Amino acid sequence: MVEQRELRVTQMTLEADGVLSLRLCRPEGDKPLPAWDPGAHIDVYVKDGTTRQYSLCGDPRDLSSWQIAVLREPDGRGGSAFIHDEVRVGDRLLVTRPKQSFALEDAPYHALVAGGVGITPIMAFAEHLAREGRPFRLVYGGRTERSMAFRQRLGTLGDRVTLLAEDRDGRPDLDEVVKELPDGGLIYVCGPLALLRATQSAAEAVHGPDQDLVRFELFSRTGVEPKESAPLDGDSYELVLARSGHTLRMKPDANILETVLALGIEVENDCRDGICGSCVTAVLSGTVDHQDLVLTRKEQAAMDRMMICCSKPVSDRLELDL
Ligand code: FES
Repeated sequence: MVEQRELRVTQMTLEADGVLSLRLCRPEGDKPLPAWDPGAHIDVYVKDGTTRQYSLCGDPRDLSSWQIAVLREPDGRGGSAFIHDEVRVGDRLLVTRPKQSFALEDAPYHALVAGGVGITPIMAFAEHLAREGRPFRLVYGGRTERSMAFRQRLGTLGDRVTLLAEDRDGRPDLDEVVKELPDGGLIYVCGPLALLRATQSAAEAVHGPDQDLVRFELFSRTGVEPKESAPLDGDSYELVLARSGHTLRMKPDANILETVLALGIEVENDCRDGICGSCVTAVLSGTVDHQDLVLTRKEQAAMDRMMICCSKPVSDRLELDL
C-alpha cells in the first residue's frame, strides 16, 4: 500500500513567472512530518486521481512543513493547471511520503546543473552542501530572469551559484562545468531532457564514453527514445519469486510488475515507466536488460537490483527477492 496523507496548504507564493511554491503542513499541526533527504520527491494526487511528482525544496531540518514548487505547464495533462488555478491556501492535498530516487552521493566535489523548475531538487542539494561546508558549484539556467524561481534564496549561497538567463546571458557553458570537475567529483542535473543530454555529451567528451559522473532526475520519459532491448535466448524464461515461493514461466515481453501484482504481491509503484525508482526490486540471480532511467551505469552493471516495471531478464532464469 502506498502511504498517503492529507496535508493542508498553508502558503502559496509565486516564485517566478509560472512557478508557484506551496507549503504543506499536517492539518492539526501536531506531529512532525516524516523526515526527508535532499533530492526526495512526493507524489501529489490531482483532481482525476492521478499523481504528479514534485521535489521537496524546503529545509529538511524543518519537519513542521514541506515545500514544493509547481511549474504551470500549458501543454501538460492538467495537474499543474489544477494546482495553479484551483488549489488555494487552506485546501487539503493528498500526498505520499517522501521518496528518494535522486540521492546525493558522497563525493569530494559536486557540480550542480539546473534548468528551469529543475532547480527544486538541485537547490536542496546546494543548501545541504553549503550547510555541511562542502565544495560545490551550481549553474542554473532559465529562459528569462523572470522565469527563474528562488533567485533571492539562491543569492545567499554567494558566488558558488551562477544564474544564467538565456535571453541575456546565453546557455550554461557545460564544457567548463565538466572540465573543472576534480577527480572523484560528480555532476547532478535536473531540467529538460536537452540539458541532461548536453551535460552527458560534455562529460563523455572530456572524461570518455564510460564515464559514470552524471546523476540526473527526469519527471517524464517524453523525448527519451527507448533503449534497444537485448534479445532473450529462447521464447520464455523462468521467473522465481523467492520469498513468496512462486515459480512462473514468462514470455519475454510480459511485464514483471503486472504479473507480480496480479499474484497479490505488494510492490510499490508509481510511474510504471522506469523513472521514479519506486518498484526497485533486489535481483538474487539472473542477468537483466535494464530499461530504467534511475540506476546509474555502475548500479545497472552490478545486476543486484532492477525496476520491474520496465526491465526484463536476458538470462533464462530470473530470481527476485519477492
Ligand atoms: S514504477 Fe517507477 S520505476 Fe518502476
